[in-house]
Amino acid sequence: MLNFVRSTVGKKYLMGLTGLIWAGFVLTHMAGNMLILVDPSAYNAYGHGIVSNKALLYGAEILLALALIIHVSCAVILTLQNRASRGRSYRIGPNGNKAPNVGSNWMLIQGSVILVFIILHLITFKYGTYYETTVNGVVMRDLSRLIVEVFHQPGYVVWYIVALVLLGFHLTQGVRSVFQSLGLLHPGYQNLIRVAGLSYALIVAGGFISQPIYVYLIQ
Ligand code: HEM
Repeated sequence: MLNFVRSTVGKKYLMGLTGLIWAGFVLTHMAGNMLILVDPSAYNAYGHGIVSNKALLYGAEILLALALIIHVSCAVILTLQNRASRGRSYRIGPNGNKAPNVGSNWMLIQGSVILVFIILHLITFKYGTYYETTVNGVVMRDLSRLIVEVFHQPGYVVWYIVALVLLGFHLTQGVRSVFQSLGLLHPGYQNLIRVAGLSYALIVAGGFISQPIYVYLIQ
């Protein structure tokens, strides 16, 4: 087991698995956030429902934090190994041929911006100003008010759009890499996987991007 984790292929599997955990999270997070566009009270009630279920909340937070740490660590280690092997006259790959492309600089740049985005995002929203409101007689956090306040600042809107476009690129390539790492990139399915990856990334990034734009222009 330890040998597997230490191997290049093992780290690629871990990156794929942890990437899938985050891929599931961003899809549900984007879909839940769509309530912002529909009804601020409904969004607050939805947020309140999530934070009230402590077991689910802490379980999901621990899983996401672990997955992020493993994903980033594997990315950094694979990139360093990849760069070190470039210094020699040959590059080592899992099959002894060309080295894997996991450490591609573009993916690393996207990943770094997304990591900075996640940290700033948690500071802005999760640990941001705590406004209160009452929905159907229940006192809860007024996240909608904070979101409207934040997304009325053009700088935030632009930064969100830039980070989310990069997230879209990262997800497109990520889906492809997962299939490659798991050895499922059968030549006959390459186009299908490319279209599936692109559609998924467009839905997630496009859905997220619509939220600051809608709030800035309409709310
Ligand atoms: C327009 C886009 C987005 C909006 C409006 C938004 C909004 C929010 C809000 C309001 C919270 C606080 C929830 C609470 O404390 O109850 C939150 C939490 C969070 N968001 Fe986002 N988000 C967006 C995009 C993203 C993206 C792209 C990611 C990841 C790449 C992300 C990752 C997270 C994480 C990890 C949490 C903390 C979850 C927890 O610990 O409970 N968000 N988001």
